Amino acid sequence: MLEFSALILALSLLTPIQATRFLGRVNPATKQLTWPSDGLAFNFVGTQATINFSAVSGTNSLSLVIDNGTQVVIPNVASNSVSTGTLKQGSHSVVLRRRSEASFGTLTFQGITTAGTIGPDVAPSRRIEFIGDSITVGYGEDGTYPCTNTAALEDGPATYGALTAGNLSADYSLIAWSGRGLTRNYVTPTTDTSPIQPEIWTRYGALDADNTYTFPSAATPQVVVINLGTNDYSYLLTDASGNSYAARPPLNNVTYEQAYVKFVQTVQSHYPQANFFLTSSPLLSDGYPSTADAQHTNQANAIKAAIAQLNSSKIHFVDFPSQPGTQDTIGCDYHPGPAEHQAMAAILIPAIRNVLGW
Ligand SMILES: *[C@@H]1O[C@H](CO)[C@@H](O)[C@H](O)[C@H]1NC(C)=O
Ligand SMILES: *[C@@H]1O[C@H](CO)[C@@H](O)[C@H](O)[C@H]1NC(C)=O
Ligand SMILES: *[C@@H]1O[C@H](CO)[C@@H](O)[C@H](O)[C@H]1NC(C)=O
Ligand SMILES: *[C@@H]1O[C@H](CO)[C@@H](O)[C@H](O)[C@H]1NC(C)=O
Repeated sequence: MLEFSALILALSLLTPIQATRFLGRVNPATKQLTWPSDGLAFNFVGTQATINFSAVSGTNSLSLVIDNGTQVVIPNVASNSVSTGTLKQGSHSVVLRRRSEASFGTLTFQGITTAGTIGPDVAPSRRIEFIGDSITVGYGEDGTYPCTNTAALEDGPATYGALTAGNLSADYSLIAWSGRGLTRNYVTPTTDTSPIQPEIWTRYGALDADNTYTFPSAATPQVVVINLGTNDYSYLLTDASGNSYAARPPLNNVTYEQAYVKFVQTVQSHYPQANFFLTSSPLLSDGYPSTADAQHTNQANAIKAAIAQLNSSKIHFVDFPSQPGTQDTIGCDYHPGPAEHQAMAAILIPAIRNVLGW
């Protein structure tokens, strides 16, 4: 009898923890929310719930959605907790997600405090993993050009990835970090020795060591979207007198193509059943830096050449045309604004649906 009630007590203590589901790629050993759109989802019965963090570092912008309603944007988490506020007595769903990326700051989840009861949240069976750079992060998405990007202007939950997953009723993770490339990062005056995205992709939390991700089978995606290359193609900088100069050689297409083959094979080794959608960049155009560079066409051709080498019916090319670039469609530093993210989602959704039948 004593043993039995001890078991019941143990189970009731465990229930709230199990009922909270992490969203995105979150290391359960650290509970640190790092990647853009990482967060948690739960249901509760009561009038209020508080999400507590054991640590808040740097600046973190969050999106809170209660009962599938209008999102509340928290531009900067200023304390160690976020509350739902007082709601009508009843059953409520809560989805909390990061809007900003790891370089601005991180949050460590501690637990949920509620006077009510926390119930199970049902995970979708469809999963999409997005691997990318600032475009996939939602860098500067909510800024009005010209502007300086901040944590509050990034918007993971409003990116083409989030919109695509939402439309297809899929869970998603954004394994993305601004400035990163497939073969080299964004051009800098001196050689950038920071890790490229294929290395960062192997991390559980974005700030964990390389090769820490354990690829849990419950998180295996059926769809992988890769959007990398915008930073690899950059090579011009502007000097003190305002003249542009080549800080490094233009990208060798073949280097990019070979790196793409290798990276897809690595990801495939972990997700052998997955369908891959490799996208061109809406930030590359055939007119910049010059028509001779033809960057959008060259990137598309290199990706198609990689796909031909990979020789698999599960690897698909998706063309995101060069964005119009008009002031009403771009955020900070020419990055896609909300309308451009919607336009990208409108291209990606049918591409995935046609292959997966979702
Ligand atoms: C969570 O935060 C709330 C509000 O700051 C606080 O009242 C509560 O004690 C915290 N819970 C835990 C477990 O730290
Ligand atoms: C690589 O890019 C250059 C321009 O930089 C272009 O002229 C060439 O055709 C491209 N080669 C391939 C194989 O795509
Ligand atoms: C592509 O794969 C098929 C089998 O799926 C094989 O028959 C064919 O030889 C391969 N082509 C190349 C160029 O490797
Ligand atoms: C999903 O996307 C398709 C194609 O863009 C669109 O026609 C449809 O209205 C969207 N559905 C929802 C629920 O957003």
